[in-house]
Amino acid sequence: MIKEAIIPLAGLGTRLLPFSKILPKELLPLGKKTILEHILDECLEAGIKKIILVISKRKKFIKDYLSPDHYLLNYLKKKKDYKSIQKLKILDRYKNKLTFVYQNSPKGLGDAVLSAKSVIKNKFFLLVLPDDIIIKENCSKKIINIHNKYHSSVIASKKIKNSEVSRYGIIKYSKKINNNLFISNLVEKPSLKNSPSNYAIIGRYVLPTKIISSLKNTKRGSAGEVQITDAIKSLIYDDNKFVGHIFSGTYLDCGTINGYNNSLKKF
Ligand code: G1P
Repeated sequence: MIKEAIIPLAGLGTRLLPFSKILPKELLPLGKKTILEHILDECLEAGIKKIILVISKRKKFIKDYLSPDHYLLNYLKKKKDYKSIQKLKILDRYKNKLTFVYQNSPKGLGDAVLSAKSVIKNKFFLLVLPDDIIIKENCSKKIINIHNKYHSSVIASKKIKNSEVSRYGIIKYSKKINNNLFISNLVEKPSLKNSPSNYAIIGRYVLPTKIISSLKNTKRGSAGEVQITDAIKSLIYDDNKFVGHIFSGTYLDCGTINGYNNSLKKF
């Protein structure tokens, strides 16, 4: 059973500057809740019991947002403003489910996962990237089911246009059965010429905890960062099974200003 999830939140959000200069992009609203709550709720609905949030000192507002604000609560109680208290209490649904760890220099997604090494206890965990919102289907739940069915690691995937391949990690596969790709290799943000397919990695993964040791040996790759894609590649070379699941939900890219504005129209 997959009970633990890692959510990397320490990135600088440069694609959303200047909006993300002070306010973490994950706290931007999307419909009736923040981007982060969409991700947290997806995890809880998928049966996750412990959510590990990788933050940094610059992203301390995330912890503040999710922690009780006693001053505000007392103030509202004195004013008998029960409506506002109710709105604040909505965040109590995450109580006792969150663990915060710190990644203080932005050295990439792989390094973010490494920051969580001392708190991951089980053999497999869920990794969810907050830039990638998926609606109309709980993609985390779906890939956990695929993991249970194939006893393999799983990566969510979506077919993308030629013009988009250099923005994503791309899957090379040996076999496709229904919506599942049997992964033989991965390439992080290739040029169109070097892209092995049009199937992109979208930010939902079920990964084996042994990836931590392969991350420790992973050198900085694309963009000078420690890439999770490179650590997964070395596990694939070592014969670990990875399935790419082409999910059926609607993908919203909230990591760029255009993507975020388009996402808002869906709510
Ligand atoms: C990360 C991954 C990439 C994946 C993408 C999905 O890239 O490294 O493989 O395709 O998320 O959003 P990033 O968006 O952090 O540059």
